[in-house]
Amino acid sequence: MFINNETELKNLMAAGRSQNWKNPQRMLMVSPKYFSIAYAINPYMVQENGQLNSVDNNLAMASWLKLKSTFEELGVTVHTLPGIPHLPDMVFAANQSFVFWHQGKPAVLMSRMMAPERREEVTYFEDWFKAQGYQVFQFETPGVFAEGNGDLLLDPCYPIVWGGIGTRTNDAAYQEIVQRFQLNVVRMPLRSKDFYHLDTCFSILSADTCVIQPKAFDEVTLMLVRSRFKNVIMLDEQENKKFFTGNCHAIAGKTIVTQAGSTTFKNDVAKAGFALKEVDTAEFMKSGGSVFCMKMMVF
Ligand code: ARG
Repeated sequence: MFINNETELKNLMAAGRSQNWKNPQRMLMVSPKYFSIAYAINPYMVQENGQLNSVDNNLAMASWLKLKSTFEELGVTVHTLPGIPHLPDMVFAANQSFVFWHQGKPAVLMSRMMAPERREEVTYFEDWFKAQGYQVFQFETPGVFAEGNGDLLLDPCYPIVWGGIGTRTNDAAYQEIVQRFQLNVVRMPLRSKDFYHLDTCFSILSADTCVIQPKAFDEVTLMLVRSRFKNVIMLDEQENKKFFTGNCHAIAGKTIVTQAGSTTFKNDVAKAGFALKEVDTAEFMKSGGSVFCMKMMVF
């Protein structure tokens, strides 16, 4: 069902943490061999004069390898896909699929990407999930757009999808999810063009802590987030845009991997008891993405 207010959310939480709920622990990343900026589908991809940003491919590869080894040093098993020459955004592995636990088995719902330039990426992920034995689902409703973990984030404890609605994922996607799967959805309308995916402005760090960009959401959404998470860390807007702090990713609810450079964020997460690993994702931020969107968590 849709969770529309605090009472509905509290009732669901009171029913207890689902015994059968599982969180994916492995990771899937895509090589940046063919990463480039070939079109603009978000505000970060262009310079002030309107020209597309350009990428230093050696630097992109070096920082991607460093990010991958950072995850591995933190104990994560990382699988990789090779990347495809004419799909320059495929390195953003968070967007092509939505992984969840369904009827006792791993499941994946393949994305219907908004940008025509990115649609073909999805099939390469689908092949990987099929080979891994997943139950693979496709959206059936005409007119659905959905971009995987870019906008659909699973709650670590409850069968809840925290669901961004905006330029990339529409309400029809959530209508179908609620009807077909035993999942509950909290709709989170995105209000700012700079925070075009939910994962640019909201990250769940642990069972009871999240970071959020208050400017990106309306009051109802912020209230629902506060009712669910005991510790809600508010992100500074400028830092969020410059260092993609809203796009951080926490490993095992303890260590946060994030773009280097922040000060407020760094202090706030340290105060909340998290360790921090800083990485350089500068080449990827030129395309509008950082740590969180460069990987997909998988079973
Ligand atoms: N250039 C990519 C796009 O606009 C960046 C995607 C970043 N991914 C994310 N989950 N925020 O689609």
